[in-house]
Amino acid sequence: MSQPSNDEWRSQMNEEIRREILFYDDAEVEIRSAGDDSKKQIEDLEYFENENFDLIIIAPNEAESVTPTVRRLYEKGIPVIVFDRALTDSSYTSYIDLDNVGIGEEAARYAARTAHLTGGEVIELKGLSGSTPAEERHYGFKKILDRHPDITFSGTYAADWNAMPAERITDSLLASNPRIKIIYAQNDVMAIAAAKMAEKHGRGDITVIGTDGAPSLGIRAVEDSVIDVTLTYPTVGDRVIQTAMDILHGKKVDKVHHIPSTYLITAENAGMHLRMNEIAREKTEKLEQINSMYTLAKSRQASQRIIIYAVSICVILLFAVIIGLIYFMRQKEKFRKSLADKNECLLLEQEKKEELYARLEESTKSKLAFYTNVSHDLRTPLTLIADPLEMISHRAYLPDNDRMLMKMAVKNVKILRRMIDQILDFRKYEAGKMKLSLQSLDIVSLLHDWVEYFRDYAVSHSVALSLTFESTAFSPVPEKLTMDVDNEKLERVVFNLLSNALKFTPSGGEVKVICRIEPRDIMIEVSDTGIGMEKEETEKIFNRFYQVDRPRPNGSGIGLSLTRAFVELMGGTITVESVKGKGSCFTVRLPMHSGASQSHVVSLSGDEAENEEKSIFTDLGIIESVTDDNNFPSSLSSDSPGSGMKGENGMNDALPIVLVIDDNEEICRLVSMILNKKYQVLEAYSGKEGIKMAMKFIPDAILCDIMMPDMDGLEVTRILKNEKITSHIPVSILTACRMDQQRVRSYESGADGFLSKPFSSEMLKARVESLILNRRRIYDLLLDNLHDLPDSLRRNRIPDHESRHELENEFYREFIGIVKSEYSDEDLSVPMIAEKLGIGATQFTRKIKALTGKTPVEIIRSYRLSVARKMILSTDQNISEIAFSCGFSSSQYFSRCFREEYGQAPSDLRNNLN
Ligand code: FRU
Repeated sequence: MSQPSNDEWRSQMNEEIRREILFYDDAEVEIRSAGDDSKKQIEDLEYFENENFDLIIIAPNEAESVTPTVRRLYEKGIPVIVFDRALTDSSYTSYIDLDNVGIGEEAARYAARTAHLTGGEVIELKGLSGSTPAEERHYGFKKILDRHPDITFSGTYAADWNAMPAERITDSLLASNPRIKIIYAQNDVMAIAAAKMAEKHGRGDITVIGTDGAPSLGIRAVEDSVIDVTLTYPTVGDRVIQTAMDILHGKKVDKVHHIPSTYLITAENAGMHLRMNEIAREKTEKLEQINSMYTLAKSRQASQRIIIYAVSICVILLFAVIIGLIYFMRQKEKFRKSLADKNECLLLEQEKKEELYARLEESTKSKLAFYTNVSHDLRTPLTLIADPLEMISHRAYLPDNDRMLMKMAVKNVKILRRMIDQILDFRKYEAGKMKLSLQSLDIVSLLHDWVEYFRDYAVSHSVALSLTFESTAFSPVPEKLTMDVDNEKLERVVFNLLSNALKFTPSGGEVKVICRIEPRDIMIEVSDTGIGMEKEETEKIFNRFYQVDRPRPNGSGIGLSLTRAFVELMGGTITVESVKGKGSCFTVRLPMHSGASQSHVVSLSGDEAENEEKSIFTDLGIIESVTDDNNFPSSLSSDSPGSGMKGENGMNDALPIVLVIDDNEEICRLVSMILNKKYQVLEAYSGKEGIKMAMKFIPDAILCDIMMPDMDGLEVTRILKNEKITSHIPVSILTACRMDQQRVRSYESGADGFLSKPFSSEMLKARVESLILNRRRIYDLLLDNLHDLPDSLRRNRIPDHESRHELENEFYREFIGIVKSEYSDEDLSVPMIAEKLGIGATQFTRKIKALTGKTPVEIIRSYRLSVARKMILSTDQNISEIAFSCGFSSSQYFSRCFREEYGQAPSDLRNNLN
């Protein structure tokens, strides 16, 4: 809103405007005042334009100068409301037309009435020329005044709506014209200024007519009798805003609003007007208060609304979050469930896999166990075939043809046996039970021997076979090279390589064995000019079971893998280089001094050494048996440990008794056949029967099969070893199982040795002899430990720390205890002692005989003699007294025995002393 000036009337109007706009939420008003300057007003208009105001309300300061700008804005589309002062054209949306002509007319009428009463001349103080109210009011005033020719109109003077020009003009007029009686001012500002001048000039008789009727100015001036009357000029602020809002709300409005004419405020009603105005003001104030409360409430409401919105948003967000969380939890739960399901599936799968693996392992184990068992089972019948065949093949009366057939049979049985051995060896290696048996041997002569085994075959197949020892920078060609080797295993390695080389080399070819000595290692190279292999084949050739899938009629397929196993066991390596069609070269590298890693080095005990048969097998058909008798010294073999003894059971006591316990009667019979020249052989076909016979006959050695239906050999051994009467008897377990594990178990049962099936007759004989001899050696120690025994009962000391002989020791000690305490009793007899010891007299005698090599009678007599000898040497008792006190029934018998024991008569000993 652009106001042209600042005065009371404008202030009142502006108040109305501001109040009215409060009724509209959707509008704001900015009021600018031009300060009676049209140029400033144009600037204000441009400001409104630039600030994009929606509607312009204007009271043009001067019509001419302001109209072009208003027109431009109006034509631009900005709604324009014109009020109070008009434009020169109708470039507006609505014009609120105040009745300025009517104001002039009404003023003229009052002036005329007054002039008629007072006489005198009338002047007019006019507003700004060019502003339409000034012209219109002048027009109305003159129009009416002209109707009264009797009244003198002294002129219209332009005072531009302001006090200063009004004062100046009035001052000068009053000074020059004393006839002036009535002054009409077009507004109250000019009227009050004129009244002031009238008073100055002492002209209280002058009537001043004002215009506008603003309560605080015009009406107050009338009430205070400063001026006489004022004509109201309605401020219409409310009307202007209503019209503006209608336009803005798109309502249709009249182009021109005519506001009804004015009324006169005189000294009579001015007070009332002021009071009314006061009331109106108070109401307005209240209204404003209400409004401000309303605004406050509204703003509170707004802020509450904001809070409500915010809370609502929060609640919604909260809900959203809760819903999101629930969704998330559900998803998570779903995910967890699906994970759990997957996990369960995986676990199930894992379990299935594990079960499958377990079953697979179980199945593999049972397969291997089956192969092992089958191999074991095959050994027994093989033994039964091999030995009879061997024996028959040596018979003198055999026709040549039959001999040849027998030899062929013998040869093939050996092949078969070796194949089984290979399977068992392989199992043994797989189970990590295979051990080394190192001996200091000359490798040069060994290699010569081994190569020579193949000489005949090579010659007959026209293959050049050579053995060369190559010198190196480190070592010249040696004549003899002693190193720690496992003879059997190295032999098998060399034989396997040589037999393969010869097998795959056609006639006219060459097989070379080259031995190279290096500072730490020995290299044995076996090369051939045979068929050779593809590279892929060389990579797999040592793999276990590689040849299982490959038809290979000439071999079992485990030869090379077993070869590698042996080489690795010896701490060495084996490699191969081969060219298909040209030949192969296998290189074995072995450490020279240590032989193998220490963990593998085992010195064989006597039992184990005895069980190791040394034979050579090749599937070429070159078969030799190399039994190393070094393990069984001939001095022992020829020395029968048993001595003549005639038992009550009618057996030939001259020969030691061997009890064979085996459910396989053929084995029993075979053992019988082998041993019957040197031993009495008893046969028991079950474990229980074996125990009974052992208790009854107290054999010198027992051979017991490990696998028997009623009671296995280990249990039999355990029982026998825990019986006082049989505990001394050496037991050798017959087993087809060569696994060490079983050996250990056997040892735990108390077995003294093992004999692997199949066994040769020589092996069996040597084994039994060794058993008996070793047992004797152990009991020599027992005797030795009983210090106060006579020298004749002492033997050479052989160290022995076996605690399991305690039982025998105890038994013997008990026996000697009885002898010591009762030797003086001439009735002391074997049956008496046996009864005291709780065993039968025969068993007692056999046990003491087995333990000491002497009968109980001999031991008692020896003891009596030794005591007697001490007495002769240390007392004065006569000989016959001594003889009786030592349990001899006659002094003649004592003297004879004494002479036999000490080589002199007791009387001679006494005489020599003296
Ligand atoms: C106020 C004023 C009033 C007069 C009106 C005419 O600015 O001078 O006194 O009545 O303007 O437009």
